[in-house]
Amino acid sequence: MKNDLLLRTLRKEKTERTPVWFMRQAGRYLPDYRVLREKYSFFERVRNPQLAAEITVMPVKQVGIDAAILFSDILVIAQALGMDVEMQEGKGPILPAPIRSQEQISKLDPARTEEVLAYAIPTTRAVKEALENEVPLIGFCGSPWTLLCYMVEGKGSKDFAKAKQFCYEHPELASLLLDKITEASITYLNMQIKAGVDTLQIFDSWGGLLSPSDYKRFSLPYLDKMVKAIQPQVPVILFAKGCWYALAELQSTGAAALGLDWTIHPSFARQVAGASVFQGNLDPIVLLGPRHHVEKETVAMMKAFGKGNYIANLGHGVLPQTPFENAKAFVDTVKNFRA
Ligand code: CP3
Repeated sequence: MKNDLLLRTLRKEKTERTPVWFMRQAGRYLPDYRVLREKYSFFERVRNPQLAAEITVMPVKQVGIDAAILFSDILVIAQALGMDVEMQEGKGPILPAPIRSQEQISKLDPARTEEVLAYAIPTTRAVKEALENEVPLIGFCGSPWTLLCYMVEGKGSKDFAKAKQFCYEHPELASLLLDKITEASITYLNMQIKAGVDTLQIFDSWGGLLSPSDYKRFSLPYLDKMVKAIQPQVPVILFAKGCWYALAELQSTGAAALGLDWTIHPSFARQVAGASVFQGNLDPIVLLGPRHHVEKETVAMMKAFGKGNYIANLGHGVLPQTPFENAKAFVDTVKNFRA
């Protein structure tokens, strides 16, 4: 592989410079993505190998990123289990029949994952081919807890109150549901490995909605099971947004790297989970501008993380309204930085 900075960093090897990519890097801030978006529906873009490959490679070619992340969505696991998922303009994902009962949970079938997500093999292979061994390919899925949030709530939410209420009222059903999501997710990650991804990231985007003790009940055990199944095959990056209080436990899963959101100071992370490789953590809103502020904050981030065992990224996904030039300034600043 021509540029394996990310993979060497995940193995804790020394590198010439810090690798950089960003979450949601294949998306609406790219003018060429917006063109494809007019022509094809979201899941057409995900399932068509040529489209998925074109979109995945876009930020590598246009922004100069050190890794590609497969174009797909965490909600394909809800589809694998038998749920309908719609991507609605301006509303985000909608699951028209949210899970609220034992009967609905009993109908969810993880054994169908390989069949429902069969397209993931040819799409991932097409992406690998389009990358021509330039940079590594990151596969991904959501955490079981984050999937439960959408599957029970039925849509995005600022607090996922219905999903949390469901867990508090029916903890035994919640654990049944989390087990099924975990099983489907492990199958899906293994499919991505079989098709050639070089590393995998697990997004626990809504982990931070839980208290530390609820995190140990409803998220951590399932993440732990997933990391134990996957890390022996390819390095796993765990991104648990808002979970500063669980960094030590997240490190104990054995994941190769921990993603950090922008509320965590690098010195705090090193103090509680020092042996880890860290990834993050610029506030995505900084990329809205002005440019000199993007450059200043990026340099401050690089200095604070220090040399080695570090992957530069944002603290959450890049926002659709991000000016392309600012995304590029972030990447260029990381690449030009010398400690
Ligand atoms: O990172 C990448 O570029 C790879 C592709 C990717 C997408 N979604 C494409 C997408 C990844 C890694 C995701 C993960 C994802 N999806 C997460 C975890 C990361 C995070 O941001 O916390 C979550 C919570 C979702 C669920 C989801 N999918 C939401 C909330 C939305 C709507 C918000 C939005 O940006 O419109 C989606 C749709 C979605 N997934 C889009 C993209 C590019 C936008 C679709 C479009 O309108 O073009």
